[in-house]
Amino acid sequence: INIAIFASGTGSNAQKIMEYFAQHPSVRISLVLSNNSQAKVLTVAQQFNIPAITFTRSQFYETDEVIHILQKHQVTWVVLAGFLWLIPVNLIRHFPDKIVNIHPALLPKYGGKGMYGARVHQAVVEAGEVNSGITIHLVNEEYDKGKIIFQASCPVTSTDTPEEVAHKVQALEHAHFAPVIEKLISEPHL
Ligand code: GRF
Repeated sequence: INIAIFASGTGSNAQKIMEYFAQHPSVRISLVLSNNSQAKVLTVAQQFNIPAITFTRSQFYETDEVIHILQKHQVTWVVLAGFLWLIPVNLIRHFPDKIVNIHPALLPKYGGKGMYGARVHQAVVEAGEVNSGITIHLVNEEYDKGKIIFQASCPVTSTDTPEEVAHKVQALEHAHFAPVIEKLISEPHL
């Protein structure tokens, strides 16, 4: 099974996934892709000897180049690990129910366009939520609305700052994303 990871930034989740599958007998991270040529995730991919490519907005939205590269690498699953651009409909159509995303909150709340990174945790703190967490879901044509595969929560106290919430949420991401992917891609697809 060949997985491609899309990431836009640090790639701490992508790194955890590369580590997790590094010795896996049947699952391979065969490609890392980013919209950001400065993304740290590209150097992490190099450390794991995984080919990494970057693309521009016009390549991603006006051509099928990215789809062709995924096909060339016989990719069957796409993992979005901190990828901040909307997925083009054509890419979704080529990978129906095969694109997995992680969102740093308990969807359906705190989702949708523009709700990513620190903004999410800021909104959770401002709303006085008593917990937050992660949502791993399939990607469909509506942003952050695909089938929810997994959720895990963490407590939020009244004195927590958004940074403290981010730290607790990231610990959940790093603990669960790779094992949830492994389970998802290994079970006979419903
Ligand atoms: C994480 O918060 C993830 O939930 C969101 O983007 C962030 C990626 O962080 N999709 P990193 O680049 O994996 O460290």
